[in-house]
Amino acid sequence: MKVIKKIDDLKIINKKRPIALIPTMGNLHEGHLSLVKQSINLQLSPLVTIFVNPLQFGPKEDFETYPRTIKQDKESLEKEKCEFLFLPEKSEILEGIKKLKAPYSNFLCAKKRPGHFDGVITIVNRFFELIKPEYCFFGQKDFQQQLIIHNHLKENKLSTKLVVGETVRDENGLAMSSRNNYLTQSEQKDASIIYKYLQEIADQLRQVRFDSSKDLSMGALMICEEYKNKFEDKDFEIDYLEIINAKNLEKSKKDDTDLLIAIAVHFKGVRLIDNLRCDLSFS
Ligand code: PAJ
Repeated sequence: MKVIKKIDDLKIINKKRPIALIPTMGNLHEGHLSLVKQSINLQLSPLVTIFVNPLQFGPKEDFETYPRTIKQDKESLEKEKCEFLFLPEKSEILEGIKKLKAPYSNFLCAKKRPGHFDGVITIVNRFFELIKPEYCFFGQKDFQQQLIIHNHLKENKLSTKLVVGETVRDENGLAMSSRNNYLTQSEQKDASIIYKYLQEIADQLRQVRFDSSKDLSMGALMICEEYKNKFEDKDFEIDYLEIINAKNLEKSKKDDTDLLIAIAVHFKGVRLIDNLRCDLSFS
């Protein structure tokens, strides 16, 4: 694997195969590595970036303590046969950076973390400009993030194609995340109720859709209220739990069929997010 630290050295990237940009903040787990694997399966040349991006952290967030595990990360990437690792220096990558504003600022995480996605799109755009990848890979776990990237590529008519990888979960169903490391093993097990409840919510939504006497948007609201209480009973503090249109993040309406159940919670002081896409087009 070629490790690149200076912007100028990005020149060494040979484009024998199309480049798949995979931006990360490091502390790599199977979720990140699944994106590398998928890019290799598609005969692409993975270029992983590791950069803990200060622009996307709020003043009271965990920028300083965010886990930095470069040595292990390099080993994991070598094992996966990743071709390039870009480890930019903060000063060089942020110098003169064009600050962008992200859309969907009134939805989900953007409401709770003002400026977060502005920081994300600003840095990802910097990578797009420097690397000009044929492909980029993002995870469905950060649903709003991939939608913002999708929108950015479309609005700016960039030729980079977006591939969205499915959420990788641990054996109990907890979505893998670098922040899971802030929890003990037993807390991680308790946190796996998030995915179980998401699945139950999806089942209930399907029943509401089957029952023609019930209104979907009203049903969705009632289900969310019921599950917010269930989470609170188990010591979760809800940031949001919403059933929305997966295409535009708007509140679900009567005839919507492509829905997303999206959640963010604080559990034992750690913020966790997850989502489940729910296709109701069968009925
Ligand atoms: P980070 O949280 O490190 O995630 C990097 C990529 O891995 C993102 O596309 C994310 O959606 C994906 N990912 C994380 N957990 C996953 C899981 N359990 N299954 C599948 N994919 C998963 O997201 C960021 O970094 C940053 O915002 C970044 C895009 C790098 C910009 O700084």
